[in-house]
Amino acid sequence: MAVELVGGALLSAFLQVTFEKLASAGIVDYFRGRKLNEMLLKKLNITLLTINAVVDDAELMQIKNQPVKVWLDAVKDAVLEAEDLMDEIDIEVTRCKLEAESQTRSTTSKVWNFFSPSSSSFDKEIELKMQEVLDNLEYLASKKDILDLKKSSGFGVGSSSHVSKILPSTSLPVDSIIYGRDIEKEVIFNWMTSDTNIHNNQLSIVSIVGMGGMGKTTLAKHLYNDPKIEVIFDVKAWISVSQEFNVFKLTRSILEGIIGSTDDSRDLNMVQERLKEKLSGKRFLLVLDDIWNENHMQWEALQTPFNYGAQGSKILVTTRSLKVVSIIQTNKEIRLKQLENEHCWQLFSKHAFQDENPQIDPDSKKIAKMIMEKCQGLPLALKTIGSLLYTKSSFVEWESILASEIWELSEDECNIIPALMLSYHHLPSPLKRCFAYCALFPKNYVFEKDIFNSIVVG
Ligand SMILES: Nc1ncnc2c1ncn2[C@@H]1O[C@H](COP(=O)(O)OP(=O)(O)O)[C@@H](O)[C@H]1O
Ligand SMILES: [Mg+2]
Repeated sequence: MAVELVGGALLSAFLQVTFEKLASAGIVDYFRGRKLNEMLLKKLNITLLTINAVVDDAELMQIKNQPVKVWLDAVKDAVLEAEDLMDEIDIEVTRCKLEAESQTRSTTSKVWNFFSPSSSSFDKEIELKMQEVLDNLEYLASKKDILDLKKSSGFGVGSSSHVSKILPSTSLPVDSIIYGRDIEKEVIFNWMTSDTNIHNNQLSIVSIVGMGGMGKTTLAKHLYNDPKIEVIFDVKAWISVSQEFNVFKLTRSILEGIIGSTDDSRDLNMVQERLKEKLSGKRFLLVLDDIWNENHMQWEALQTPFNYGAQGSKILVTTRSLKVVSIIQTNKEIRLKQLENEHCWQLFSKHAFQDENPQIDPDSKKIAKMIMEKCQGLPLALKTIGSLLYTKSSFVEWESILASEIWELSEDECNIIPALMLSYHHLPSPLKRCFAYCALFPKNYVFEKDIFNSIVVG
């Protein structure tokens, strides 16, 4: 989902990088030192500012308006060219500095001036290319009125003062409170604790089904971590399956989850034997979260070792697909529905006001409820939009969110649930950039801390 969205919406993130580079000491000193036309830098900055003022609107309009999309793509290319050019200058400056350093080391008497006019052909070329990029961007900027692009309302892009507020309210690994799933929880809990057998070689499987963001993983986690469950099972393991369904890797992950350390099996047979040994005669609980695989043979291959467990062993599966449910032949199917109004309000308020029963004035409550209703009972949307509102303190900003055209988009048009697209649209540029980079990795990709840090810092 995200890659298409990000592909189109990345410009505001790129622009920030370009502004920073343009203002960097290296670029300015290079132009000054080589006596190039500094006006080019100033004009480029102003042209980029002009584009930046309407980019928010353009990112929104592009979904429905093809000419705006074409314009946005052209601007993106031009901005990338400008960035490339500045990288070239950076490389040249570094090269000169290194040369200067080695010179001063070998001849202490001679002081090397790295801005000496030694590479005039390079400089001329840079100046020429810069002029071309500028002409191109000025041309594109001049078309903003014809395309009817409006200036941004001043929040969303660039409102980085809100960054620190956004993060804490959305980064809880497991929400301690789960709203409105009492019945489902009880049904699954009873099934988990029942002594039903693996009769006729039939595994005891329950599936939680529902669209993305409906709370399948959350419900499964609450059950899995329930202390009452702990005493019932001899072993338990949680596997995050996601799109890739590799029987060998999954079997090894299950085994590793059970033994609590890494396993060095080289092939499927070896790992299945080991898992069979660990499960034999044990009452186990296995959670396979987010299965997408619709291939029956692969599922059969995965489940062979499960048949060796003791009576009362259970497998809990979560999936978005009813086809998956039919393929794995579950004994029980729990379809997660949208949350009821009362629970929507609690979840929404918890994130929007940090209080599930907020004491707010009637006008604010009315508009908050209208925004809440747009989330259509989807927990992920309620949480995300609630967190977005928490960062917007003025009534005008709330009204502007309510009035956003994004709500009206169908999923086909924006490739993502409108509520989530809206929250992306309102992210400050640095976070948009992080999100954009992260979207390039496969779903459920586990980041090394250092890699993630370098994405965030970069
Ligand atoms: N019933 C609920 N009460 C509170 N928060 C919920 C509830 N269901 C889901 N959430 C929150 O919504 C987000 C999405 O839920 P998740 O379980 O990941 O959805 P799914 O697995 O169906 O895609 C999570 O951040 C979770 O904390
Ligand atoms: Mg999930």
